[in-house]
Amino acid sequence: MPEQPTRVKIEFPVTGEVCEVDYDDTLVDATFRFELPIRYRCERAVCTTCLVEVIEGLENLSPMEEREKQTLAAIKAKPNWRLGCQLSILGDVKLDYVPITDSRRQPLTD
Ligand code: FES
Repeated sequence: MPEQPTRVKIEFPVTGEVCEVDYDDTLVDATFRFELPIRYRCERAVCTTCLVEVIEGLENLSPMEEREKQTLAAIKAKPNWRLGCQLSILGDVKLDYVPITDSRRQPLTD
């Protein structure tokens, strides 16, 4: 079993932000400490303002709780989308913020 890291890297390849945080830090904390390009409103897995696309490292994020699963299902989220307000960082990740107006959010066909 690989050793648990003490520090982990959060990267936004599209906009260029990179920061290092402690293992298990929340993405909300990191956002405000390092001015990462994510916006939040409810912070309760309801509004989807904080939607992120996980470019790399999906396995390095804390597991989904039921409420996040339900919200992502309701918006027909892609498998690599997560709600930033629900995340702790457990390993290196590459993310991209998906704003409410982003074309990636356009209705998906069934
Ligand atoms: S801030 Fe509302 S779902 Fe994350």
